[in-house]
Amino acid sequence: MTKLWGGRFQKSAESWVDEFGASIGFDQQLVLEDITGSVAHVTMLGKCGILPQADVTAILAGLATLQDKAVKGELVFEVANEDIHLNLEKMLIDEIGPVGGKLHTGRSRNDQVATDMHLFLKNRVTEIIELLTAFQQTIVAQAEQHVETIAPGYTHLQRAQPISFAHHLLTYFWMLERDKARFTESLKRIDISPLGAGAMAGTTFPIDRELSAELLGFSSVYANSMDAVSDRDFIVEFLSNSSLVMAHLSRFAEEIILWSTDEFKFIELDDAFSTGSSIMPQKKNPDMAELIRGKTGRVYGNLMGLLTVLKGTPLTYNKDMQEDKEGMFDTVHTLVGSLKIFEGMVRTMTVNTKRLHEAVHSDFSNATELADYLATKGMPFREAHEVTGKLVFTCIQRGYYLLDLPLADMQKESALIEADVYDVLAPTAAVSRRNSLGGTGFTQVAAQLAQAKQLLG
Ligand code: ARG
Repeated sequence: MTKLWGGRFQKSAESWVDEFGASIGFDQQLVLEDITGSVAHVTMLGKCGILPQADVTAILAGLATLQDKAVKGELVFEVANEDIHLNLEKMLIDEIGPVGGKLHTGRSRNDQVATDMHLFLKNRVTEIIELLTAFQQTIVAQAEQHVETIAPGYTHLQRAQPISFAHHLLTYFWMLERDKARFTESLKRIDISPLGAGAMAGTTFPIDRELSAELLGFSSVYANSMDAVSDRDFIVEFLSNSSLVMAHLSRFAEEIILWSTDEFKFIELDDAFSTGSSIMPQKKNPDMAELIRGKTGRVYGNLMGLLTVLKGTPLTYNKDMQEDKEGMFDTVHTLVGSLKIFEGMVRTMTVNTKRLHEAVHSDFSNATELADYLATKGMPFREAHEVTGKLVFTCIQRGYYLLDLPLADMQKESALIEADVYDVLAPTAAVSRRNSLGGTGFTQVAAQLAQAKQLLG
């Protein structure tokens, strides 16, 4: 088969060579963006008097037919036509005759592919921001049910201090809020048109780049045609922002997995988001959370992959850049899927409040309360820490928790301890009294919830 660029060639490549160089296997995902870009380009060519209106009309009609077929899944792509751009151009010529060959006037696949990628990411990032918001709404709804549910808070995965369970859940709200801010900020660098940069140096045709940018809904145009065709920063940025989302999801996933164990039993996942074992009848596995934790790896890999592809590539376009696509598609797919699943998992999970209550009443996470109590009574905090530590040790030896230790035993370590110490040691008191700004005190958590809801609008 003759290539659209075959003029200067005496022989054609063997099919297995074509296969290696082709991107149609994956860049067909850009089919609608590519048609949209062509519609804007040819409209602009007409408006600028570069193509007669009759040709423009014919090309637009052909593109409309291709778009229709694309939506219906009727287009048959060929490896011999290398990529989405040449496949569509060939189909256009087959559809409307040689006039279809005028579409590529004043354009190159280099500005064309960059345009497609910008259009693609602009839409996907907008969708991802919406999914992040939906997940935040679910987190807020769960948190609302658990402002006064007391749970153990951890450092080093050791019981640290009691907290409001809502406070724990809302931590993820804020991570996602930052993720959203990063994606929103990145739109500035996605929402910019490379179209009209040509192969790299611009074109001799009197094109109007601002017009085609406007037709495509882009806010601005690249100032430098060489930068326009060689910039892939916006994709790296997307992969980096996505990596951070996955880091957050993987941390949450890990907690969901831990909380679902018999050892913790803090939550139970809905059957719809769990799986069984083929051999062990009792099993209910948190597969979805594990998968999301696992999929974090491929997204990090995609980021490292593209950074490495770009390293040292000279200006401007190099075929290396064709390698920017699969990781991007894979990341979009992974992120969209993970966010949808995670939202459903959190929306349908049951929080075992009884178990959480038991947990905070059978540990030493109220030890800081005792130290603070002594410090409030004038004992230097370092000394209060020491006294409390000794009392914890006494408890461990005698099989008590601090709340069970008789007052007389406490007073052996410090005469400052009085009967009111038991009020202070109660886990609920420990939480409600942590009223410093952003702390886990109920009033603070309620204020935080209100702030979160306000941000969600
Ligand atoms: N399939 C190519 C890519 O994805 C399109 C651009 C080809 N440009 C070229 N000069 N060979 O990068």
